[in-house]
Amino acid sequence: MTARRPATYWDYIRVEELLALQGGLDGDERALTDDEVRFIVIHQIDELWMKVAIRELATARDLFRRQHVPETALSSACAGLERIALIFDLMAGHFRLMETMRTRSYLEFRDKLSPASGFQSAQMREIEILLGLEPEQRIPFGHEDSYLQALREYDGSESPALRRVLRRIEDRPSLKDAVYAWLARAPIDGSSPGQPGDDEAVTAFVDAFLTRQRAGQEQRMQLVLQDQARTPADVARLQQRYAKELDEARAHLHAEDVQSADDRRRVRRLRTAILYIESHRELPLLSWPGEILDALIHAEQSMIVFRQRHARMVERVIGRRVGTGGSDGVDYLDRTALDYRVFREIWAARTMLLRSDLAPAVHNAGYYGLRAD
Ligand code: HEM
Repeated sequence: MTARRPATYWDYIRVEELLALQGGLDGDERALTDDEVRFIVIHQIDELWMKVAIRELATARDLFRRQHVPETALSSACAGLERIALIFDLMAGHFRLMETMRTRSYLEFRDKLSPASGFQSAQMREIEILLGLEPEQRIPFGHEDSYLQALREYDGSESPALRRVLRRIEDRPSLKDAVYAWLARAPIDGSSPGQPGDDEAVTAFVDAFLTRQRAGQEQRMQLVLQDQARTPADVARLQQRYAKELDEARAHLHAEDVQSADDRRRVRRLRTAILYIESHRELPLLSWPGEILDALIHAEQSMIVFRQRHARMVERVIGRRVGTGGSDGVDYLDRTALDYRVFREIWAARTMLLRSDLAPAVHNAGYYGLRAD
């Protein structure tokens, strides 16, 4: 075997190859303005960050898809999810540099990009698919039949970007499906799915929770009624709002929005398990699952903030004009920030969670590793 020659920084990092990639469509960097080179560099850096995020997401998904998820792996999984959040924060930070570009400077080179767009970023689509964004959640624009059309070459043939996304669509399950399957197995008051009496244990927790939630609201309503500054109409409106909150919590926990009875039982268990973990996360066995819930929310929150920050940067640079990809620009981007929500079941628990003194008492605390002091 011949010995490998000693490493250098430039060989390992591929510095020369990397620095030769900013020539734009004609491959001639000298013909470009500083603004345009910066525009290309920021996109390239973001694509590299997305590459790192995809690896983290796949690693987390591969862990949670296992039939048995070892508890010892949960702290590393948390760190990985936190890194995803940090990557989106860094990417959002790049928009500060982007928006130093004046509108007319961008207009000098914008037309030659058309109809290319960030909408064709295959890696962004991979991240969404790997996270678990459902196709029916997508907001259509330009290519109304499917967002995949935007990833074709202009003669309609398959592009490397399209192949990349198609491969990812085949790569099931998503992180959401894997993590939900794991969460749904969480013991509720010591009872696990498939055990005799599990349905009854779920129902008992849900009933106790809803009773406590109603008690909490009645306490709050008493305080409202003492507030002399409110008119009777204000009070009635508030009562209606509280009643709606109770109604929505009941419908959510009983999974009334789910059609088939089997799916309803499965979703009901998942939603209850999430609420149970959040309600009793101080129990040793539920602490790491609680941290995982936080890390998932943090990763998704950072992605949402990235989308919102992108929209504000776009508004500042090009106003509300039509995008090069053909969408209505800022309005489209704002809608993605609002609607592209993946971990809805986990967010929903935040709306319902109760103060710890109101939460239903734990049955079987010893099962969760809690020792009497
Ligand atoms: C001056 C700079 C930029 C402008 C004016 C701009 C504008 C836009 C607009 C208007 C859209 C909507 C689709 C369309 O009609 O084209 C879009 C989509 C997108 N842009 Fe940008 N963008 C800029 C920089 C960036 C950067 C630095 C990134 C970094 C990754 C980025 C990533 C994306 C992505 C991923 C989408 C797809 C969003 C989705 O469909 O959910 N953009 N951009």
